[in-house]
Amino acid sequence: MAKLLETKNLVTNFYTYEGSVKALDNVSISIDHGETFGLVGESGCGKSVTVRSVMRIIQSPGVIEGGEVLYCDDAEHPEQCEDLLIKSEEAMRELRGDRISMIFQEPNAALNPVLTIGEQVAESYMFHRQRSMSRQILADVESGKISFGIFSPLLKWAYRRASENPRAPALRLMSKLPLLKLWGRPMRREAVNRSVGIIERLGISNAAELVTRYPHNLSGGMKQRIVIAIALACNPTLLIADEATSNLDVTIQAQILELLQDLKERRAISSVLLITHDLGVVAETCDRVGVMYAGILCEVADVKTLFNNPVHPYTRALLNSVPRFCVEGELATIEGSVPNLVHPPAGCRFHPRCKAASDICKQEKPKLVDLGNGHSVACHHIDEKIGE
Ligand SMILES: Nc1ncnc2c1ncn2[C@@H]1O[C@H](COP(=O)(O)OP(=O)(O)OP(=O)(O)O)[C@@H](O)[C@H]1O
Ligand SMILES: [Mg+2]
Repeated sequence: MAKLLETKNLVTNFYTYEGSVKALDNVSISIDHGETFGLVGESGCGKSVTVRSVMRIIQSPGVIEGGEVLYCDDAEHPEQCEDLLIKSEEAMRELRGDRISMIFQEPNAALNPVLTIGEQVAESYMFHRQRSMSRQILADVESGKISFGIFSPLLKWAYRRASENPRAPALRLMSKLPLLKLWGRPMRREAVNRSVGIIERLGISNAAELVTRYPHNLSGGMKQRIVIAIALACNPTLLIADEATSNLDVTIQAQILELLQDLKERRAISSVLLITHDLGVVAETCDRVGVMYAGILCEVADVKTLFNNPVHPYTRALLNSVPRFCVEGELATIEGSVPNLVHPPAGCRFHPRCKAASDICKQEKPKLVDLGNGHSVACHHIDEKIGE
């Protein structure tokens, strides 16, 4: 399978008063076209910082210090990858929400309380598709399908300008003047109509009525679906879901995960990067999984291998700490806690909590070693652990 996204040795630090938090230490993950990739690990291990670094939305005092984020949109031409870390901020704005979309845990933070649902879903589409929409409306005005009366010459000029550069200062000014604001109306109407279609695709029957409501009128599950609708507005290639279903009750969570699976099957999205604490969700939905601990990637494997033959002591401990219905006895926990990343442990960052740690683990960072079939592990004691 061709790669869609690949991070190579990603390093991100936060410069706080306490010192520099080494949040990501050479994280290298890759996601293929058509794949659902799960990223798991305890709280604070760097899952969100990884995807925020990919999207370049790390806020101060965070700094992406090094590495590459290769994005290869065209599966047919894998050589045409672009490094997102060297793209301009303007180019990143075009890419976010268009080719890569992200949904977060808290739908309330993502929705604007003073805009209707329709306006919010339409907004993302309008931002990215103003050029093509303007071209369409201009054609309609010229063929006489739409008429703006005496304002026609002015508005034709505006659409021609918008089809060349939708963010031209003159257009921004026009959008603020009450009468001339009219020029954006047909575009908005078209975008809202499209929103109804997107919301219907998410299995919501009363979409036409829903687009007129405000976020406070909706339940948590419904709001999260709207956030997904906004993320899907431009048919992104990659959808990143950061704990997107953690706040929802299990039935709604199941519905939303099913929905993502369905959208992938219908090719509305190509790949999904799913961040979750829930290993059950990973087992159900992911093709491959990456396990993170304290800013490092310790194991990557396809989902069956990871659950049946985990190699890294941290992955094993994480899997052992999942409650199982048919196993009696006390639930295993991982002793200790995630280290403070201002002073991460030397050598392997997991060694203070690892029962198998030896001297080398305290001194040398283990490299991610490829065991074949896409299974990689960063541990000094791989040979002893395989088949154990
Ligand atoms: N703004 C910030 N300032 C300082 N440190 C930060 C900041 N944001 C994240 N970190 C640190 O980066 C590390 C990784 O955090 P991150 O949010 O990626 O964890 P996570 O794996 O997503 O955890 P959770 O499962 O709780 O969401 C943590 O040690 C955290 O303290
Ligand atoms: Mg997080």
